[in-house]
Amino acid sequence: MSYSAFFYGSLMSKVVLLRVLCGATASDRDKTLKLNTIQLRPALLKGHKRRSLIGEEYPAVINTGDKHDNVMGVICQGLELEDIKALDCFEGDDYKRVPTKVLFENSTMIDTEVYIWIGDKKLLSEEEWSFDYFIASGKEQKWLDERCEFYDVDRLHAVDTQ
Ligand SMILES: *[C@@H]1O[C@H](CO)[C@@H](O)[C@H](O)[C@H]1NC(C)=O
Repeated sequence: MSYSAFFYGSLMSKVVLLRVLCGATASDRDKTLKLNTIQLRPALLKGHKRRSLIGEEYPAVINTGDKHDNVMGVICQGLELEDIKALDCFEGDDYKRVPTKVLFENSTMIDTEVYIWIGDKKLLSEEEWSFDYFIASGKEQKWLDERCEFYDVDRLHAVDTQ
C-alpha cells in the first residue's frame, strides 16, 4: 500500500521532510534511498488558504470553500504507512490529516491528503506564509530539531528499528 500527502509548508523542504521520514540519526545513504522511493511534484490545492501562524515559523492551511483560494505546494507520492505515522507525529495535535484533491501542473486531478489546521483560529494571521523566507531566515534546522524533539518524532523512529 502506498500513500501520498500534499505539503504546503516546512515539509516542502527536503531537509525537513527527510528528517521527519528518516529520523535524526539517518545516514546520507538512508536519506538518498528514501528520496528514491518517493516522488515530489508541484501541485495546487483549491478552495483553501495558507496563513502564517502568529509567533511560529510554519504556516497553516484552512478550507475556505472559495474556488478563488489556491495553495501552491508539493504532492509527495510513494509514502509508506510508517512515513504517515512519522508525519502525523510531526504535525501534532493542531493539524488533522484529511482527504482532499489536488491538481498537477497539467490540470490532472488526484486524490491525496492534507494536514489542515484545527488549532486555535486566533493564531491564524492574515499574512500568506513564504517558503523562500522560511529557508532564507536560516532558522530551519534549529526549529526542526526543536519540533521533532517536542513531538517525539525521533523516538518513533527508534522504536521502529528495534
Ligand atoms: C499529468 O501529470 C502527472 C504527474 O506528472 C502524470 O502522472 C500524468 O500522467 C499527467 N497526465 C496527463 C494527461 O498528461
